[in-house]
Amino acid sequence: QRSMVQTKRLTPDAAGLAEAASILRRGGLVAFPTETVYGLGADATNPEAVAGIYAAKERPSFNPLISHLDSFEAAKVQGVFDETAERLAKAFWPGPLTLVVPAAKTCTVSDLARAGLDSVALRVPAHLMAHALLEKTGCPVAAPSANRSGRISPTEADHVLGDLDGRIDAVIDGGPAMVGVESTIVACLGGAPRLLRPGGVPREAIEALIGCRLEAGPEATDNPVAPGMLASHYAPRAQVRLDAAEIRPGEAALLFGSTSPDGLPEARAVLSLSESGDLIEAAARLFSSLRQLDASGADTIAVSPIPETGLGEAINDRLRRAAAER
Ligand code: TXA
Ligand code: MG
Repeated sequence: QRSMVQTKRLTPDAAGLAEAASILRRGGLVAFPTETVYGLGADATNPEAVAGIYAAKERPSFNPLISHLDSFEAAKVQGVFDETAERLAKAFWPGPLTLVVPAAKTCTVSDLARAGLDSVALRVPAHLMAHALLEKTGCPVAAPSANRSGRISPTEADHVLGDLDGRIDAVIDGGPAMVGVESTIVACLGGAPRLLRPGGVPREAIEALIGCRLEAGPEATDNPVAPGMLASHYAPRAQVRLDAAEIRPGEAALLFGSTSPDGLPEARAVLSLSESGDLIEAAARLFSSLRQLDASGADTIAVSPIPETGLGEAINDRLRRAAAER
């Protein structure tokens, strides 16, 4: 267990980024913005630093982490890219895509960050501050979402501090994350590529590129054989009720599109993910809306139906995990 530290809030200018990079290089923990969500970063090659991530998050240690890099060239030192993986990297990096590939002989990502697997999860984020930080740090940076395990992923620096203040060395305040849901994870481990987690790159965009349907990844389970697939995840304090056609008295309502469900006037709190039914806007607002409705004190958050297309697949995946029995 780490003792309490003073968590610095760093500005995303040259001085703040230089300080963040030097904290990372000496084994510290820095939360930083990416275009998906804020990540809790540590030097992926330093097992003690990586252990600090698991400790700060109180994360079960069987979950492997994503290593972040500043370029495809740097990623190729860590992993082996087959033809499909290379096409995906060239099309979607930098961006909200993570590729799970066999670890290369030259891989320096620690066993702990890989949870002992012979594969490695790699991502080149598009966020300018994340890119600048990774460039200055000069090593792969392991970073899960910067929340305590099982809680809602952070899309703002204040969300990070709400969960991790006193447990991490610094957070770079880069404003709200634009995409709002985590990266899409695709495994390219020989054979057909598999979708391990829907996320910021829609399935349709990937399938259009590779010219075939993406195989499903491992099912969500409470007893993961494949790591990181806990069914109950992203959980607010309140219960979450999906596909709500009406709002029951005292519930908080999370709406999508121009729906006006019965019982809305009796709702304890109401937010809309997107009044125009825009799934990109809805993804960007998802986690902060869940936080706000949770703070209303309602016992249940009732969520309108959301289409399962485009970013809707990732949004519904996160909502189902939030609604799963705990
Ligand atoms: O958008 C994101 O992806 C954010 C930002 C910070 O980059 N990161 C993130 O990381 O969501 P994390 O650690 O919360 O999610 C990592 C996921 C886990 O579900 C884990 O099981 C999977 O990646 N994963 C990592 N390495 C893997 C591997 N070698 N094989 C299979 N799954 C892996
Ligand atoms: Mg997470």
